[in-house]
Amino acid sequence: MKKIGLFYNFATDKTKRCAKKIEESFNSKKFEVVAIDVNETLTEEQFLQFDSIIVGVATWFDGELPFYWDEFVPAIEDMDLSKKQIAIFGLGDQITASENFCDAMGILGNLFKERGAKLIGYTKTKDYIFEGSGALENDKFMGLALDLDNQAKLTDERIKAWVKQLEKEF
Ligand SMILES: Cc1cc2nc3c(=O)[nH]c(=O)nc-3n(C[C@H](O)[C@H](O)[C@H](O)COP(=O)(O)O)c2cc1C
Repeated sequence: MKKIGLFYNFATDKTKRCAKKIEESFNSKKFEVVAIDVNETLTEEQFLQFDSIIVGVATWFDGELPFYWDEFVPAIEDMDLSKKQIAIFGLGDQITASENFCDAMGILGNLFKERGAKLIGYTKTKDYIFEGSGALENDKFMGLALDLDNQAKLTDERIKAWVKQLEKEF
């Protein structure tokens, strides 16, 4: 049984809905997914207790992290993540924020990589329509991009496919 830490802010709307679907999509015979709230009480120890980590982050403020993740950035900057595998799912709006689509996924992804983590769960940009994104690496998203504002109907199948991919990569 592999343990996965699933980190997102429990007070969010769309991020939370997606996190729940991700949690339910894992094969429960092989994976134990432990959800942890990202808020002011989140500690470095809570984050580092897992070697397999999923984080959920929406993009706010025109290409920025939401405040609940932003407050945790100084803690991440001090971490040794060299033994960690991290997968990110990002929420964004590719129409109204077309030049900053899911940028926050890239902010966290680059930070995790700088601290030595191995990012997993990269996905193709096919079927998305946006001008620019800070979450791209070699033309792929550094995780799973979800857009409940414009492509809600694609969410379930995107999550199912991504979790299948993660079950192999973790
Ligand atoms: C004020 C505001 C700013 C936003 N800025 C961006 C942005 O820069 N890039 C992006 O992709 N989405 C942006 N969005 C869209 C949100 O990321 C998207 O609606 C997301 O699903 C919200 O998730 P949440 O309900 O979990 O907070 C913005 C939304 C709001 C309300």
